Amino acid sequence: MDRPQITFIEEGGLPRLKWEYEKERTGWEDLLAFGTADMDVACPAPILDALKKVLEKGHLGYAMTPDRYFDAIHNWLLRHCGWDVDTRCAVALNVGVYLSAQSILDILTRPGDRVALLTPVHFCFKRKLNLNGRVPIECPLVEIDGRYTIDCAALEACFQSGCRLLWMCNPHNPVGRAWSRQELQKIADLCLRYDVYIMSDDVYCGLLFPGQRYTPIASLSKEISYRTVTMYSTSKSYNTTGLRHSFILTENPELLKRYREDLDRLDLSYGQSSLGIAAAIAAFEECDPWLEALMEKIAEHHQLVTEFCRENLPGARVAKADSTYFAWIDLRGLGIPPAKLGYLLEQETHMVVESGIALGKGGAGFIRLNLAIDTALLQEGLKRLQTFWQRYKR
Ligand SMILES: Cc1ncc(COP(=O)(O)O)c(C=O)c1O
Repeated sequence: MDRPQITFIEEGGLPRLKWEYEKERTGWEDLLAFGTADMDVACPAPILDALKKVLEKGHLGYAMTPDRYFDAIHNWLLRHCGWDVDTRCAVALNVGVYLSAQSILDILTRPGDRVALLTPVHFCFKRKLNLNGRVPIECPLVEIDGRYTIDCAALEACFQSGCRLLWMCNPHNPVGRAWSRQELQKIADLCLRYDVYIMSDDVYCGLLFPGQRYTPIASLSKEISYRTVTMYSTSKSYNTTGLRHSFILTENPELLKRYREDLDRLDLSYGQSSLGIAAAIAAFEECDPWLEALMEKIAEHHQLVTEFCRENLPGARVAKADSTYFAWIDLRGLGIPPAKLGYLLEQETHMVVESGIALGKGGAGFIRLNLAIDTALLQEGLKRLQTFWQRYKR
């Protein structure tokens, strides 16, 4: 079989939030977009072919979800994680990960309840909790030998303070960790001990560096699975965010029933995106080789950034990663107050990045760089970062 091509999309006539919106917002033609979590990579060919087939038929009305959809998810989880889960009885569709999170929060918690987050984490987690009157309890990850891991004592203290739910991210945005079975087991043991439910956002689960493995926390045991809702989408791994399609998986029938009732309440249960369903089937059945080729390229980019920083920005450390398309870079060696870092970097380098301060405890002074970008643009960004570093380093 031919090796799948990883094609970086050329600019021109596209309406992307990541690039065109940012250029419009700033007025900068030389802007470099390293922010929004989208890839500049074209969708894999099997997905595009599946979408074309739907369009050629011309039916864009209410779509039925075929058994093949559930089976494609089942087989993907079995192949990648050895998890044999009855997806036909455990999966419900939605139009986005955060909409699912909203329903799950409504089902498992009440206003005023405390929800634990492992920070730094994507800013939407905390924002969603605040907007819904839940209390985010931030449990910072710890860095050991340049790699982030979970501080179990800190997590236990969070649970002791009365958390009802742990909202986790696996693989973790922004630090790029796919949690190991051992790490997950420690989290799971604590959740069982303190009667905490788990909402696991596994939207990055296809994005593993070569040789790495993704383990869903719910796959550890039936006992844990019963108290877990896992949220999935093809959106991040296969670059389909614009299709607005996602699904959840839980082996707890009562939770699934209540979730489906909530979908009814929100008018999200009758008919789902025909394009989203077709894309998901193609992704899970046919795109493993594409994912492998993609992640070789991303791993190369991660290595490039790590080495560049080591050689040219002494003190600006890049966290060791095993997954996602992010480089998490420590810029605390600059004499810049963390609240100003993102703004100043943007103004001076015309690079848009995610500023770590928005991502909770442990994020101040860091930036997140999106590596799913053409290599030449990444190199240009690194040069600009070096100039910035030389100007402000303490
Ligand atoms: C951890 C995480 N979850 C969910 C989302 C949103 O995914 P979607 O747009 O597919 O709902 C994002 C987007 O950046 C994310 O980083």
